[in-house]
Amino acid sequence: MDHFTYKNGELYAEDVPLSRIADEVGTPVYVYSRATLERHARVFREGLAPVAQATRREPLVAFAVKSNPNLAVLRVLSRAGCGADVVSGGELVRAMTAGVPADKIVFSGVGKTRAELQLGLDRQIGQFNIESSEEGRELAELAASQGRVAQATLRINPDVDAKTHEKISTGRAENKFGIPLVRAREVFGELAALEGLNLRGVAVHIGSQLLDLEPLETAFAKVGQLVADLRADGHTITHVDLGGGLGVTYKDGEVPPTPAEYGAMVARATVGWDVHLTFEPGRVIAGNAGVLLTRVVRVKRGGNGPPFVIVDAAMNDLARPAMYGAWHDFDAVMPTGERMVANIVGPICETGDTFATDREVDALQSGELAVFRTAGAYGATMASSYNSRGFVPEVLVDGEQFAVVADRIPADAIMDAERVPDFLLDD
Ligand code: LLP
Repeated sequence: MDHFTYKNGELYAEDVPLSRIADEVGTPVYVYSRATLERHARVFREGLAPVAQATRREPLVAFAVKSNPNLAVLRVLSRAGCGADVVSGGELVRAMTAGVPADKIVFSGVGKTRAELQLGLDRQIGQFNIESSEEGRELAELAASQGRVAQATLRINPDVDAKTHEKISTGRAENKFGIPLVRAREVFGELAALEGLNLRGVAVHIGSQLLDLEPLETAFAKVGQLVADLRADGHTITHVDLGGGLGVTYKDGEVPPTPAEYGAMVARATVGWDVHLTFEPGRVIAGNAGVLLTRVVRVKRGGNGPPFVIVDAAMNDLARPAMYGAWHDFDAVMPTGERMVANIVGPICETGDTFATDREVDALQSGELAVFRTAGAYGATMASSYNSRGFVPEVLVDGEQFAVVADRIPADAIMDAERVPDFLLDD
């Protein structure tokens, strides 16, 4: 459930009409709802109640910063009790700047540089999720040389098909992530013996936008077996990180598991593990908490197919449709009740800049406002400046008030960072 609803014939974010935001901030603009973010964080935590009960420990919910790294969004979620799952030095600094305590920060990612490992050590983050024996040795050596001990888990690759889009599937043997299960005991043994590392558990993440619990349950069963094997090998296992991945509804008829169903499955899968659990949800918290508000530039008719509704947002602002063929609902801000079949496209000069093909949508005319729904996760954060378009601003709504939480970065500001070198200047 989200807080983007029609009142008096107009779409609101909480108690703010979207037309007001368009007037004051311009379009395109990402709009987030604080109440929705808080609600999703709460519902996710409540879903994990049986897990907390079974393990007698409150799990750590580390919001996947990659899904929405806006400082204000991170602040809202941090105040709602979330930690942060980060995958770069940039995300780590953001999370801490937003107020996430260091001990609630988990550092994932297959290519952490030496400088990023050092940053994590300096900031004394809660946990490194190590993805290779090479990374583990480098971290151990760095930490030991400074008289420190890094808290860490080993990410394993369970070779499970998450049945999601191939570009966002991460837990199959051929993916670059984690240690193959068959090598996990050997690598764990090697790294656990190193000074500078407290290798205290395992981590897993098999993919994103999962609509089915079965692959997760299969992966968790493999993790459970590994935990037992590692303990049999004499290791002390106190922490398991079960990753993120829970899907959301982009399109009518897509029914993701509820957080309660997810929590019940996790409680089942983790019986007797006796560990601290960490979760890394991103999309399920932020996805439906944001829309991309856009204005129709013009409606172009007269081609072979349906008319093109050309909007001022493009694939550089919201990459998901072009990148994954993803569906985002498209609704008029002030619908008249009339409908039309249209292709919804952006102004960018490639055919991939298409948000929807042959789609029945609210009838729209030049100058009218519309939204792409479910754009709060993997939206603004995946933007580029392709076609020398600037970066879209972000707004956070809170009841009747709203604030610009990221400025629009115009194309000339990006150009200002470029220069023509002396050797190209005409003499
Ligand atoms: N933990 C790890 C280690 C991850 O790699 C990811 C996402 C998450 C947690 C959060 O997953 P979530 O709960 O959001 O599904 N750009 C793509 C999604 C890429 C996901 C990458 N990893 C998209 O727009 O669909």
